[in-house]
Amino acid sequence: MFPCGPGSLSIPVPWAAALLLALGVERALAIPEICIQCPGSVQNLSKVALYCKQTPELMLHARCCLNQKGTILGLDLQNCSLKDPGLNFPQAHTAIIIDLQANPLKHDLSDTFHGFTQLQTLILPQDVNCPGGINAWNTVTLYTDNQTCLGQRNLCNSTRDAEICPENGSCVPDGPGLLLCVCADGFHGYKCMRQGSFPLLMFFGILGSATLSISILLWGTQRRKAKAS
Ligand SMILES: *[C@@H]1O[C@H](CO)[C@@H](O)[C@H](O)[C@H]1NC(C)=O
Ligand SMILES: *[C@@H]1O[C@H](CO)[C@@H](O)[C@H](O)[C@H]1NC(C)=O
Ligand SMILES: *[C@@H]1O[C@H](CO)[C@@H](O)[C@H](O)[C@H]1NC(C)=O
Ligand SMILES: *[C@@H]1O[C@H](CO)[C@@H](O)[C@H](O)[C@H]1NC(C)=O
Ligand SMILES: *[C@@H]1O[C@H](CO)[C@@H](O)[C@H](O)[C@H]1NC(C)=O
Repeated sequence: MFPCGPGSLSIPVPWAAALLLALGVERALAIPEICIQCPGSVQNLSKVALYCKQTPELMLHARCCLNQKGTILGLDLQNCSLKDPGLNFPQAHTAIIIDLQANPLKHDLSDTFHGFTQLQTLILPQDVNCPGGINAWNTVTLYTDNQTCLGQRNLCNSTRDAEICPENGSCVPDGPGLLLCVCADGFHGYKCMRQGSFPLLMFFGILGSATLSISILLWGTQRRKAKAS
């Protein structure tokens, strides 16, 4: 026997299931635009291909190396006539390795890598300097065909917190040569000097209720499955 009245959830459930199915399908098909911005696929012998083949869960899609959730871990845009990395480039902020060599890039990329905190290997055209300069990386090497930047340094470590960020803020890395000062809990505003509750709480409140209604839909479908089995 059913633990509760049969059919009590039958009206919302098919709708919820359809919605979740549609979301799922869309998700499976969606490849980030940055991966298909350049023709072809990752070059066989590139460092990005080597990196991707080392780990069984990772797979190559067009110019990207993705994990099973579709997160970009590697990006190979070499030899693609790029003058700049383009508007979609921030989609690759999760990448550990990026190859941009053999492109006519402009010479200053220091603003391109905001939020690229995971990046450990960056390969650039020979005449383009590593973003953030020598101090942002453990090793910078100049070859005849490229420049490689290895091991992103955490600038928050090399300079003491108190010197960069205000008293009630703390330093957070934000990509090669970049850092952010984040106000401690309960502080906000200029130099984190204002105390008290925050208008952002409202924003999180709205997000929170959207999450809650999706959870309720999920709960409904799970119950339905449990009944069916
Ligand atoms: C690239 O690798 C694939 C499979 O690993 C192989 O079939 C293909 O011949 C390779 N291409 C080149 C140009 O090496
Ligand atoms: C760059 O791409 C062109 C065609 O788009 C190709 O002919 C050339 O061999 C490629 N160069 C390298 C180094 O892969
Ligand atoms: C960089 O260029 C050198 C030759 O100048 C080459 O041997 C090396 O493989 C290149 N590095 C990458 C990552 O392509
Ligand atoms: C930075 O500091 C953290 C903790 O203070 C430490 O775990 C990390 O290894 C340090 N990183 C570098 C590059 O020194
Ligand atoms: C930082 O927080 C402490 C403790 O709440 C407070 O006494 C101090 O005035 C704050 N500093 C600034 C610069 O607002």
